[in-house]
Amino acid sequence: MYEFHCAGCHLEDGTGLGEIYPPLTKSDYVIENIKDFACIISKGIRGPITVDGIEYNEEMPGNKGLTPVEISNIINYMNHTFDYGLAPQQLHETKEYLKRCE
Ligand code: HEC
Repeated sequence: MYEFHCAGCHLEDGTGLGEIYPPLTKSDYVIENIKDFACIISKGIRGPITVDGIEYNEEMPGNKGLTPVEISNIINYMNHTFDYGLAPQQLHETKEYLKRCE
């Protein structure tokens, strides 16, 4: 799922690409905004954001077709693979967080 939907921009190892695609590895942005993560995946994100000290001002398209289960799986895959050190996100939490951007 991650490789299909995300790696095209953020790369397979999550390091991103220069000043266009921010990194997802140990991203301070992800960790500080963990409650918005499900919505970022679902709706995308645009506008100026600072990730690990670098400012990005691009646009990420949303993934409207993804179900809450798939979004939850992507989040937990990334938490594990990129060492965020967060507790696994339960499906009911992902659904709750998705209400922030309904
Ligand atoms: C078409 C390219 C593209 C794809 C595909 C994409 N992103 Fe992004 N992503 C971006 C861009 C560009 C930004 C920065 C947006 C901005 O400047 O506001 C971003 C920002 C982010 C951020 C917030 C900043 C950070 O680095 O922590 C997260 C989290 C994120 N993407 C996760 C994902 C996940 C998970 C997927 C797969 C479901 C994904 N992205 C797919 C281009 C993409």
